[in-house]
Order: sequence, then C-alpha cells, then structure tokens
Amino acid sequence: MNLADIRAQFPILNESVRGKQLVFLDSAASAQKPRAVIDAMVHAMEHQYANVHRGLHWMSERTTEAYEGTRDAIAALLNARDRHEVVFTGNSTGAINLVAHSYGRGILRPGQAVLISGMEHHSNIVPWQMLRDAHGIELRVAPITDAGELDMTAFEALLADRKVGLVSITHMSNVLGTYTPAARIAALAHAYGAKVLFDGSQAIVHRKIDVQALDADFYVFTGHKLYGPTGIGVLWARRALLEAMPPFMGGGDMISSVSYECSTWAELPHKFEAGTPAILESIGLNAAIGFMNSVGYDAIAAHEASLTDHALSRLAGIEGLNVIGRAQDRGGVVSFTMQGAHAHDIATLLDRQGIAVRAGQHCAEPLMRRLGLDSTARASFGIYTTHDEIDTLADTLIRVREFFA
Ligand code: ALA
Repeated sequence: MNLADIRAQFPILNESVRGKQLVFLDSAASAQKPRAVIDAMVHAMEHQYANVHRGLHWMSERTTEAYEGTRDAIAALLNARDRHEVVFTGNSTGAINLVAHSYGRGILRPGQAVLISGMEHHSNIVPWQMLRDAHGIELRVAPITDAGELDMTAFEALLADRKVGLVSITHMSNVLGTYTPAARIAALAHAYGAKVLFDGSQAIVHRKIDVQALDADFYVFTGHKLYGPTGIGVLWARRALLEAMPPFMGGGDMISSVSYECSTWAELPHKFEAGTPAILESIGLNAAIGFMNSVGYDAIAAHEASLTDHALSRLAGIEGLNVIGRAQDRGGVVSFTMQGAHAHDIATLLDRQGIAVRAGQHCAEPLMRRLGLDSTARASFGIYTTHDEIDTLADTLIRVREFFA
C-alpha cells in the first residue's frame, strides 16, 4: 500500500485549517472522500442522471443500471448469497430502525426480548426502546468487562431462557475500538434460538466482512464512514427473513399494485425501498467500494493495525493521559481522557493546531456512564492516516498536558 498515492486521492487532505496543515483524526465520525467518489457523483450529475425504476428512456435505464450495480457491488463486498438480500437505507440508523419496525413488530412477539450490549451507539439502543414501549418486548443489555470487551459469560446467561428473539450488537465499538467476537456471538444466539444483527458501521471500514462466514442474520452499515457519501446505508439480511418481514415504509416503488382497498408489495428488495432512493449516493458508494477493493482489505487492516499500535504506544507514554478500553481485538479508534482537562478543552486545543478529533459522549451515553466518565476525546484513523500524524497528535497532547498541569 503506497500511502502517498492513497493520500493524493483525497483532495481535502491538502487543506489547511487555522493556518495549519489539516490532521484529520475523526474518520470514525465520517470519513473523507477519495477523488473516485467525487468524480463519479459529479460525472453522473453532468452526464447520466434520471430517476430509477420508473423511466423507459435511456437516461433512466442507464441510471437504474448504475443504482442496481451498486447493489451487486455490495452483495460481492459482503459475500451475500443473493443480491436481493441488499436493501438500501439512509444510513445504519435507518437500517436498524427498519429492522426494529418490520422484524420487531411483524415477527417478534410481545414478551420476547432483544439483547444488545453495553457498548452500543444510541442508534442500536433507542429503536429497541421504542419497540419495547410500543410492542411489549423486553430490552436486555449484556454487560462489558472493565477491559471494554463483551462479557461472554453474562451474554450467554442472558440467552439461557430462550426468550431472546434478536441479538443486536455492534461489530466494533465507536468509542472503545473493541471488535466483538461476531462469529461466536452468532453461534451462541442461534444455539438459543435467536437471530443476530451486527451494526457494522465501524467494522466494515477496517475489516473484510463475510456475512456467510459470520453466519449473521442482519448486517448494517453506512456509506459515509466507508469513504462514500452521506445519505446512503445498507441493510443486508437473509432472504427468508426479508421475505417474511412486512414493509416498513409505504409509497412509490415498493408496491406491486395499489387500489383504495388494498395494495400488494413489490419483490425484494424493492419492498423495503419506498420513494425515490439515494441515486447519486449509490453511485458514489459504488465508487467507494471500488476504491476500497483497489487498496485491498489486507493492506487496509495491516496499515490500521500498525497505526493503532503506534498510537497506543505513544499515548501510553504521556503522563496523565488514560486510554479508555484495553480490548485484545481492537481497531483504529482510540478514546482517551487527560487528568485535569475536559475532553472538549483537549479537542479545542488540538483544533488550534489543525488536529481534528471528536470529543464528548460519542452517541453512547450509557457506555460513558458504565465507564464512569462524562466524555472522552477520540482519535480515529482511516486509510489515509499516517504515523507522522499520530506523532503530531501525541506531541501536541504533551503540550496540552503541560498547559493544564
Ligand atoms: N457514529 C459516529 C461517531 O462515532 C457519528 O462519531
């Protein structure tokens, strides 16, 4: 992997902010976009764009091919058995809400439980609370250990009464960087009669995902963290589940026929894609997948593992700085606190040097409470992050520490 070549594909990395060279360490919130994504979307708008699935004209047919081509690319990316298992949504949140509404209300029965973990993003907590309140399911939370890993003994114990109909769990924590043992989680869930959903918003950016090897039932992710545009996400699910699930949103494109008395649904996956979809965004997402494939997941994973090791070792050497989470299997998201300094102040001082990190609760307030913290600062790495940028972060944090000490 030639890092200089990769960085050259991201125009924004040349920007200066506050008179300093941008050091972008906030890719877990949203990744920057390579030239291929920018060009694909601009090209579509300039040369080949119309609505999809509706027109008999050339522009609509070509645009439909492009839109459906992205579905093929995603099916290949995930090693799905069938392209009809790929449903476009607005983002991961939209995908989880689709499952909560459709599978939750249509298939789960009141009295059954949904099991999440103690390190979920709000998007994998709140939809299940809403389902609990509307539909009478129970919401269970599997605790995490002090190291920031899923407590697998407690997890299994929560499955033991076989009331859990669905396990919905992150594949990689956006706060701790922890990878959850997805294949083991799926095996346990299935052994106790539950289906399993993985929130892959963070994991798919860094690791090759094979939904068949994981034996997942649902896998969701969002385009904008995967170097693609905002406004498009993906729900992958086993075909039999999608067939059994009622539609979530009604409208155009999701129907087979409509009368005032009743309507019938379109075939998969269109049953779940009401309204004009994110057409340009699908074209951008396909370009992002092409970009990822051109670099290769092995190279991405090796680079990011090396960045993470370097960051953990540099940050460990800074007095008064605590890295949050010590999972064995972890990726390029590093949260930390500093004695005597609030995370917002750390982020503000870093920003003055052109360094972008996220600070706060990271949409994971219950996890913060479990950690006994009100906030952390978080540096997160992407395909374009360099070891020098991590050194810049660490050197600047030493000065931040001196300032607050
Ligand atoms: N979920 C995104 C993050 O972790 C926004 O920053």
